[in-house]
Amino acid sequence: MKSNEAILVTGGAGYIGSHTVRLLAEQGRRVVVLDNLVFGHREAIVSEGVEFVEGAVGDRELLRGLFKQHQFSAVVHFAAFAYVGESVTDPLKYYRNNTAEPLTLLEVMQEHGCKCFVFSSTCATYGVPASIPIVESNPQDPINPYGRSKLMLEWVLRDCDKAWGLKSACLRYFNASGAAEDGAIGEDHEPETHLIPRVLMAITGEISHVDVFGTDYPTPDGTCIRDYIHVNDLADAHAKALDYLAEGGESIRCNLGTGVGVSVREIIDAAERVTGKKVPVEYGPRREGDPPQLLADPTLAREKLGWEAGHKNVQDMVKSAWAWMGGPYQGRYPRS
Ligand SMILES: NC(=O)c1ccc[n+]([C@@H]2O[C@H](COP(=O)([O-])OP(=O)(O)OC[C@H]3O[C@@H](n4cnc5c(N)ncnc54)[C@H](O)[C@@H]3O)[C@@H](O)[C@H]2O)c1
Repeated sequence: MKSNEAILVTGGAGYIGSHTVRLLAEQGRRVVVLDNLVFGHREAIVSEGVEFVEGAVGDRELLRGLFKQHQFSAVVHFAAFAYVGESVTDPLKYYRNNTAEPLTLLEVMQEHGCKCFVFSSTCATYGVPASIPIVESNPQDPINPYGRSKLMLEWVLRDCDKAWGLKSACLRYFNASGAAEDGAIGEDHEPETHLIPRVLMAITGEISHVDVFGTDYPTPDGTCIRDYIHVNDLADAHAKALDYLAEGGESIRCNLGTGVGVSVREIIDAAERVTGKKVPVEYGPRREGDPPQLLADPTLAREKLGWEAGHKNVQDMVKSAWAWMGGPYQGRYPRS
C-alpha cells in the first residue's frame, strides 16, 4: 500500500467493523470510517489516527467529497441491517439499506477508479444447506430477505467485475462471536439476538433467561449446531483479503468459519464453566427456518487468503465476550 492511500470502512463503528478497524490501524493502515450510527457506537473506534465520518452509504455527495479528499485504495463494506426476523416483516428496509444503498457507493468507487471491495456476506445466503459442511459451491438459496439482500449484492459485485474490473472478496461469515481480549470493545447490539451475549446477559440478570428453541434436532444433544467464529479472526480475514486484492488477486467468495460445530447446549455449558454461574434456561419448540446444523468448510479461505481461524475453542470466545462485559463499558457503550 502506498503511504498516502487509505481504506474506507463502512459500518466501522459496529461490532465486526470496529474490531477490524482496530486491527487495520494496528497494522499501520490509514483508515476512514463511514457509519451513520443507526446501530454503531462512536466509542467503538478506539485507535488513534482513525478518521470517523458520520453519514450513510447512500449519501452520494458525502461519498464524492470523501473520495476526492482521500485516495482510497479499497473499501471494506460492513454497513447493513442484520435482523433476520425484521427482514421478513419489513423487507424493503433491508433491500434499501443492504442492496440499494451500496449501489451508490459502487458508483462513486467507479467514478474514482477504486477497484477493491471487501464485502460482509453471510452464511444466510446458503439458506437451508444442501450438504454439510458447506462449501462455496453449495447452492445459494436464502430463505429470508436478509439473506437475499446480501446475495443480490454478491451478484452485483460479479457483474461489476465483468463490466469495469472491480475486484471483490465476498466473505461469508458464519456466527461472529467473542470480543477484544482486553475487554475494550465488543458486541453491543440492541436488541441483542445472538446466543453468546444473550447467555451472558441471562447470567448477569439483564434478561431473565435464555430461550433454547428445539431440543429434538438430529444432533448429539438435540440442540442446533452452529459454527462460531471469533471476531478477531474475522478482522484478520479482512486484512488478508485486502492484501490479496492489492496483490492482484481475482474476485473471490469464501466462507469464514472454524469448521467446528458447537451446539446451543455446549455454549451454555461453556458459559457456566467460564463464569462459574448457572444459566437460567427455558426450553421451547423449534423455531421456523432454523436448520439443525450450519457448518463452514473454510478450506478456500485458507488456500486463497492464507487465513485460518486462530480461535477454535468456543470457551475462548465466551471468555472474551465475558471480558467485554466486565470491561470499562460493562458490555454496553454509552447511549446518547
Ligand atoms: N454478526 C454476525 O454474526 C454476522 C454474520 C454474518 C454477516 N454479518 C454481516 O456483517 C456486517 C457487520 O455485522 P455486525 O454484527 O458488526 O453489525 P452491526 O449492526 O454491529 O454493524 C453494522 C454497522 O453499520 C452501520 N450502518 C448500517 N447501515 C448503514 C448505512 N446505510 N450507512 C452507514 N452505516 C450504516 C450501523 O450503524 C452499524 O454500526 C453486516 O453487514 C452483517 O450483515 C454479521
